[in-house]
Amino acid sequence: MNNRGRFDSKLGVVLASAGSAVGLGNIWRFPTEVGQNGGAAFILVYIAFVLFLALPVMVSEFVIGRSSGANIVHAFRKLAPTKWWMIVGFMGVLAGFLVLSFYSVVAGWTLKYTIDAIAHRISGTDPAQTFNNFVSDTWSPIFYMTLFLLLTHFVVIRGIKGGIERYSKLMMPLLLLIIVILVGCSLGMPGSVEGLRFLLKPDFSKVTPHVVLSAMAQAFFSLSVGIGCLATYASYFNKDMNLSGSAVNVCAIDTIVAIISGFIIFPAVFSVEGVQADAGAGLVFITLPHVFSSAFSQMPLVGYVFSTLFYLLLLLAALTSSISMHEICTAFVSEHYNFKRKYAATLVTLVYLFLGAACSLSFGPWKDCKLAGMTVFDWFDFATAMFIMPVGGIFISLFVGWRLERELLTNELTNNGMLKVKGLNVLIFLIKWVAPIGVGMVFLNELAKLFN
Ligand code: PFF
Repeated sequence: MNNRGRFDSKLGVVLASAGSAVGLGNIWRFPTEVGQNGGAAFILVYIAFVLFLALPVMVSEFVIGRSSGANIVHAFRKLAPTKWWMIVGFMGVLAGFLVLSFYSVVAGWTLKYTIDAIAHRISGTDPAQTFNNFVSDTWSPIFYMTLFLLLTHFVVIRGIKGGIERYSKLMMPLLLLIIVILVGCSLGMPGSVEGLRFLLKPDFSKVTPHVVLSAMAQAFFSLSVGIGCLATYASYFNKDMNLSGSAVNVCAIDTIVAIISGFIIFPAVFSVEGVQADAGAGLVFITLPHVFSSAFSQMPLVGYVFSTLFYLLLLLAALTSSISMHEICTAFVSEHYNFKRKYAATLVTLVYLFLGAACSLSFGPWKDCKLAGMTVFDWFDFATAMFIMPVGGIFISLFVGWRLERELLTNELTNNGMLKVKGLNVLIFLIKWVAPIGVGMVFLNELAKLFN
């Protein structure tokens, strides 16, 4: 166990965990969902889910990871005498494979747009056509996806301290700096007031039960909880880390970045006439290139810097998240099969290449291969965000709230009595009751509709 590696500093832990959380989910998915689902009304529901459901699950993952010091499958085996709980761990590893497979496709598009932005090749003329031509091609998106997976692989094989921690400490401050620059630029644009109004005006009529489930799925996805990703990171934490405090920091950073991403995107979007704010998943790849070229047509240099920084931000965010997904699977394969880290990571990367290619082809030659109306890409996204993450969240909080000994739980949260945790009993109440019942209710409500 000693050669598993460890994070070296508290800052490293928070940056790596926040790096996992802050990703395409914040910058690509969150503004899209806000745009389509009622603006500020969606944000309010989302924040409630973060506080009452996702935060307790995150703390539970931290407890499972640090107290076991093992990958997510072995963690359950160590902490629970019955084998059944290991199924939750296996579900996490499976989700780790599925999420990064579709995620790396979008990350590959991001990589291509970053390179194009740097090379001054992003064209404002017919961005929809450019985007559709690119994603529907067979090889080109697979090429960029492969490149992205190799970047992820490069960091993961270097281990915890020399890889994940070192690169998180480098990439996260850069990412935060870029956000601050971009939000400054965007708020100075002519459409900023209208953009902010759109983002902040609540439209509760759009908050249907399905939107509520989407907000919960988004909260779990954005915070990387429910599949043992943060439990895996926590297995490398030192014993003096404040688990609940770190979880609060990670949730705060993630939520602030998500909302600020809206502050970057919508003022820019509203500065160009005729652009739709709720343009869906194409928002950052179709709408924004058009916005960049129109809004800055008089100041091409500013447009160049803005668009380059924007795609770089997206790329950094995707990379710090993909590293954490890869680690769920690498930690499991290396410990379960007793492989050296670099062999385990290589095997895992190969599987990603294979599954990722299938997701990528869903936009091209396989776009008509559908099951129940969904492509491979859609299925991977749906199965993880709408199903495995919430179900995983229910079982993880039930396990920590009801199965773990209460003494072990309090000892982990208070570092054997050395820490005074404000609201400890409230937190335990959230873990035992609110998280499993809340997630269960939203989830079952949606499931019932599927069968109606
Ligand atoms: N939280 C990441 C995002 O918002 O993009 C996605 C993610 C990372 C999901 C890690 C799941 C995971 F285990």
